Amino acid sequence: MVQTGGHDAQRDLQGFFMRGMMLAGGAGTRLFPLSQVVSKQLQPVHDKPMIYYPLATLMSAGIRDVHLISTPHDLPVFERLLGDGSQWGIDISYGVQEKPEGIAQAVILGESFLREEPFTLILGDNIFHGPIGLEAEVLEFRDGALIWGYPVEDPQRYGVIEIDDSRRVLSIEEKPDRPKSKLAVPGLYVYDGTAIARAKELKPSQRGELEITDLNLSFLNDRMLRAVELDPEITWLDSGTHESLLDSSNFIATVEKRQGQKVACLEEIAYQKGFVSIEAIRQTIQKMPSSPYRTYCERAILG
Ligand code: DAU
Repeated sequence: MVQTGGHDAQRDLQGFFMRGMMLAGGAGTRLFPLSQVVSKQLQPVHDKPMIYYPLATLMSAGIRDVHLISTPHDLPVFERLLGDGSQWGIDISYGVQEKPEGIAQAVILGESFLREEPFTLILGDNIFHGPIGLEAEVLEFRDGALIWGYPVEDPQRYGVIEIDDSRRVLSIEEKPDRPKSKLAVPGLYVYDGTAIARAKELKPSQRGELEITDLNLSFLNDRMLRAVELDPEITWLDSGTHESLLDSSNFIATVEKRQGQKVACLEEIAYQKGFVSIEAIRQTIQKMPSSPYRTYCERAILG
């Protein structure tokens, strides 16, 4: 039997469906020359383009209305890859960011899509594996901002938070020289509708960007920023360097081989969440070229 997805649960509880934004622009200069022609978020992570993974995270949380923002150069390629999302029972729309002027700028660019309602933002180079509990958080979310913290060895590369036992954030800093904790902030954020107006108030940082950490600070200053510490057993990878890209590929390949199950197979998630019928997914699979991915879909979904 087809399961009832988060879409219905969200409608019951909140009267609306939470929207999702994926940010897949930026210069990706650290991946040169790989990123000269193909954007960072389209690079292969083992057997799928990188963008599949954050999209899988949104879909697994029951989010079916997704807006992807990228550069004028790369956007058409994302559209060719993902289409309108109907093959997975979701809606994907697209928006352009002319210049990489900051992650928080995407919130302003997405204004007409977001309609001042709560939304989830995920960075296109962030990969999560394991039960992060996003669906439950989305269902419970009312107002303010929700971020996550993940213990890492090198927090100075990221946004860094200090939190107390009741999920209250004490401080947040972007790439501090002397981090106050080991908790890095992954590229996953849930915001209420005030995020757009707050983002519009931000001033560019020294590197000329509207910083997502400054948007989070705006919520913190109003005591409306909460954080959840991710279980270290969950894997969070950000694939912005050659080393981390290779690590991500190796990690996904190892997990898939060991468990005999694909990570971020969008067709499988769409079916499990009840976004599409078995007939619709069968047709999607029939259009795939003969490949290990198709063989997996046939075995895992069609049985
Ligand atoms: O990965 C998590 C980290 O992401 C957070 O801990 C930091 O607080 C946050 O600032 C961000 O840091 P990065 O230095 O890793 O951000 P980066 O410039 O690499 O951009 C992250 C993603 O967002 C990447 O996929 C490109 C995209 N992006 C970035 C900017 C600045 C855009 O699409 N447009 C932009 O203007």
